[in-house]
Amino acid sequence: PQTSILSGKSILITAGPTKEIIDPVRYLTNRSSGKMGYALAEEAVKMGADVILISGSDTLSPPSDVTLINVESAEEMYNEVMKHFQEVDIVIKSAAVADYRPVQVFDKKVKKKDGNLVIELERTKDILQKLGQIKRGQFLVGFAAETNNIEEYALQKIERKNADMIVANDVTAKGAGFGVDTNIVTIFHKDQSVKKLPLLSKHDAAKEILAEIVHKLGDDRET
Ligand code: PMT
Repeated sequence: PQTSILSGKSILITAGPTKEIIDPVRYLTNRSSGKMGYALAEEAVKMGADVILISGSDTLSPPSDVTLINVESAEEMYNEVMKHFQEVDIVIKSAAVADYRPVQVFDKKVKKKDGNLVIELERTKDILQKLGQIKRGQFLVGFAAETNNIEEYALQKIERKNADMIVANDVTAKGAGFGVDTNIVTIFHKDQSVKKLPLLSKHDAAKEILAEIVHKLGDDRET
C-alpha cells in the first residue's frame, strides 16, 4: 500500500539553517525555518522509512519517530552527515547551509570601535558535493534555492555535485522558499527529465518529492 512504499529504506534528511559563530553573542545565519525538511521527515516516516533528521533549526518540534540530531554550524552538519551517510539509502539535503563562516571566532564579545568593522569569511565545506564524490549507491537529492535562471543552475548543480535529483525553488516567488508553509518546486532528474509542481503546502510538496524518489528507485531496479 501507498503508506509503506518506503518501508525498509533509511533516509537522512538535513533541515534548517546553520549558524556560524562570530563571538559569544553573535552569529551569521539565513532565513531557513526548517519547515521544508521537517515536512519531508514527517512524510517519509508516514511512508514507512527510517529517518535521521539532522537539523540546524531549534524552534520546530520534531516529527515523532525520527532520530533527531541537532547541529549548529556547517562544520557540525558536515560531521554528522558523514557519520551517518554509509548507513542510509537516500539523502535529502534541504538544509540551507552557510557557504561562508568567519575565519576567526572571538572568545569575547567584539566591542564597538570607531570606523567600520571588517569580518573576514572563509568557505565552509560543501556537504552535497562531498557526498556526490563518495556515494556508493545512495540516492542523493540536493535542493537549489535560486532567484533567477532556475533550470540552468539546477541542471549544472546535478552535474557538478553528482546528485541524482535536484529540487529547485525560486525563493523570490510569493508562497515559496524560506519561512512560509508552502512551496513551489521543480524537480530535476539526472536523466534531464523535469517535473514542475504548482504552489503546494510543504507537506504536499514533500509527498511529491518522496514519490519521485520512489519512482526513480523503481526505474533503477528495472534497468
Ligand atoms: O527551511 P524553510 O524555511 O522551510 O525553507 C526551505 C528552503 C528554502 C531552505 C529549502 O526549500 C531550500 O531551498 N534548501 C536549500 C537552500 C540552499 O542552501 O540552497 P543552495 O542553492 O545554497 O545549496 C544547494 C544545495 O547544496 C543544498 O542542497 C544545500 O543543502 C547544499 N549545500 C550548500 C552549501 C554547503 N556548504 N553544503 C551543502 O551541502
